[in-house]
This record gives sequence, C-alpha cells and structure tokens, in this order.
Amino acid sequence: MTRASVVGVGMTEFGVHEKRLAELFADAAFPAFDDAGITGDDVDAFYFGNAMSGLSENDTHLAPKIATHIGIPGVPCQRYEDACATSSNAFKNAVEAVEAGVHDVVLVGGVERCTPETGLDTPEMTRVFASASHREYEQPTGLTFPGVFALLTKRHMHEHGTTEEQLAEVAVKNHYHGSLNPRAHFGKETTVEEVLDGPVVADPFRLMDCCPFSDGASAAIVVSDDLADSYSDPVDVTGVGHGTDCVPISDKEQLSATQAARDAADEAYSQAGVSADEVDFVEVHDCFTGAEVLATEALGLFEDGEGGEAAAEGRTRVDGEVPVNPSGGLKAKGHPIGATGTAQITELVEQIRGEAGERQLDDAEVGLAHNLGGDSATTIVSVMEARA
Ligand code: COA
Repeated sequence: MTRASVVGVGMTEFGVHEKRLAELFADAAFPAFDDAGITGDDVDAFYFGNAMSGLSENDTHLAPKIATHIGIPGVPCQRYEDACATSSNAFKNAVEAVEAGVHDVVLVGGVERCTPETGLDTPEMTRVFASASHREYEQPTGLTFPGVFALLTKRHMHEHGTTEEQLAEVAVKNHYHGSLNPRAHFGKETTVEEVLDGPVVADPFRLMDCCPFSDGASAAIVVSDDLADSYSDPVDVTGVGHGTDCVPISDKEQLSATQAARDAADEAYSQAGVSADEVDFVEVHDCFTGAEVLATEALGLFEDGEGGEAAAEGRTRVDGEVPVNPSGGLKAKGHPIGATGTAQITELVEQIRGEAGERQLDDAEVGLAHNLGGDSATTIVSVMEARA
C-alpha cells in the first residue's frame, strides 16, 4: 500500500562547509523544489531535522528561521531531534501527516555541521556526540560513540566469530561506492591492509572503520498518494517502521541483535507487504563498519552471524546480490547527523528513478533505508518502491 510519495529530492555534497545552517539547508531545499517542479508557494508544511544547532551555532529555534530564509514563511514548522535518526523521524511524521490528510505537500529534511569549521575540534565534537548516551550511567565512564558501537561489535565478534578483516571489507566496499558518488565526503578507495594498518580509535575500530564528522544538508518533498501522479517522477513510500530499545546499553536484552532495528523492519516490511528477500538494495546506518554488519542481519538480509562473511564475499557490493550503501554510506559519503536520514531517502529515490550515475544499480525497484539514533535505541526503517 502506498502511504505517501516523494516527488523531489536534493542534497549538498557532504564534507566540510563554511556556510551556516540556514544557508546550507537552502542548498538542499531549492534543488528539491526544482526536482519536484514546485515553488515555496506549493509547500503546506515543513518537517525539519537538526540535532545540535545549539552547540554548533548557538541557534536553536531553527525551523521557522529556515522557513523564512527559504521563502516559505508562515507554513507550520516543526523540528525533530533523535540523535542520528533525526531527519528520518521528520520523514516518518511527514509521511503520516500527508497520509492522514493533514497536509498535501511537505518539505522534509535536515542539516548539520559537525566538522572543525564549527569551531569544535574532534575531541570537543566527540564530547558533544557523547551527550546522546546515558547522562548518569554512561557519560561518567567516558564512553564515546566509537566506544558504544565497539561494545556492540565486540559482542558480535564474541558470539559469531566476526573478524577485523571482515569489518575492514565493509570499509573497503563503502569507500569504493563513495568513489562513485560525487557528493561523498571521501571519494577515494582503500584496501583491507590500509584499514588494518590504521590507528585504533576504539577496539576493534581503526580510523577507516569510522564514519567522519561531516557538514551537509538533504531535503525531500513528500506528497499524498492521490496527488503523486500530477508530478513527473514520484517514488512511493510503502512502509515506515519505528523501533525503540532501552537506554542505557546495559539494559538491552541482546547487544548485537539491535532489537529496535528488528522491530522497525518488521513494521516496515509488513506495511509494504514485502519480505527481506524482495528488497533490491539498502542504505544502512554504517556509522562504524560493525554497525553495518549488525544492520544487515537485523533487516533479515543475512542470518545472524553471517553479515561479516557476506560483506567479505562481496555480496553487498554494488554488483552483489543485495547492494548495501551504494551511496558510500555514512562511512564514505559522510555523516552530518541531522541530514543523514533524508540523504538516505535521496539515494533511494535517485536509484529507483535510475538517476544515480556511475553507482546506478541494475535492479533498483524496491529500496530500504535504515537510520538509527544513539546507541541504536531509536531506529527508523523506510521501504520505497517504484510507482506501479
Ligand atoms: N574515515 C577515513 N578517513 C578519515 C576519517 C574517517 N572517518 N576521519 C578522518 N579521516 C582522514 C582525514 O581526511 C585525514 O586525512 P589526511 O591526513 O589525508 O588529510 C586524516 O584521516 C586525519 O584526519 P583528522 O580529521 O585529523 O582525524 P581525527 O583523528 O580528528 O578524527 C575520527 C578521526 C575517526 C576519530 C573521527 O572522524 C571520529 O570520531 N569519527 C566518528 C564520528 C562519530 O562518532 N559519529 C557518530 C556515529 S554514531
């Protein structure tokens, strides 16, 4: 069943930007308007994602400010903050709003600045990001986000024998995909040897196992199903699932199973009426290489414990049986956290329309986006399909 359709997308390059948040978001929103063939006058509402503008720019009431800046003053605006799942949650709510008939045409998107251009260097930004962990139980231990995902991945290695070489293969694959994506933060390829020779960030992750701090913005135009055919190239949203797990990590039942992703995927598959083996390609939240392995298993693409081996065998490459992160993923495309969710939606739309350039997949009718926040406690899974 079609819940809504996306009729326009836009995103900036991910990387280092000097522009401030409002200007940066405009560079994604205007291309999305152009792609949909609309102007700001056609927009009924603005669903906006940003996680940390208070810290990066001391600028917190951003949605109406940005609406004014991009020429849609007065439309109902709301801001979402769910750590790295921020703009996916905005997307979920935009889909629900058009499905319910509350709005017809919604601008949804996100923007973030995380690089030292903000004035915050890697240690300071690492501390800012760590604010998404448990304030009383985890932050006093000095736990960082590389540390959070290292804990989950170490458990997976212990339970299933996943190796550092298999994790390195995920980085090699995503850097290769990123080399095909002109908007990627990192456009250069790497090798297993280079990954394994890198400095340790949080065992088992080395430099190349980690996503970078990035700046960037992304946007999409979501419309109701009954309006979609009046636009030139709609792509249908057929399922959006939302799962939530316990925080802190010590309260989770299984560390390596990422239960919120499993719940979100079940809900999204059930709404869409598709199973994991009917999905042609996925964009997953590979903030660290281990996170991609956990995600591919939680989505049911591989049996539990087989995600690392599947990556090492090339089954997740653009030419493999189920391409994972054809965009380069967070690892190579980059991760401006509030913009990541709708950037995944942008990749799904471009692949399904056949507009993905060098990284275009042969078979891209059904795509899935998996975007998590915090220690994976918030996860949103969206299924999109070519319009019948
Ligand atoms: N992947 C590949 N290369 C990277 C990289 C990454 N994640 N981060 C930096 N680099 C490269 C830089 O381009 C630079 O290359 P150069 O010397 O050729 O110019 C070099 O590595 C050093 O860059 P620098 O910016 O000094 O790295 P850093 O040590 O300050 O930060 C990390 C590297 C991995 C520690 C940092 O990017 C990080 O913490 N990433 C994780 C962010 C995070 O937790 N996100 C939330 C996920 S839930």
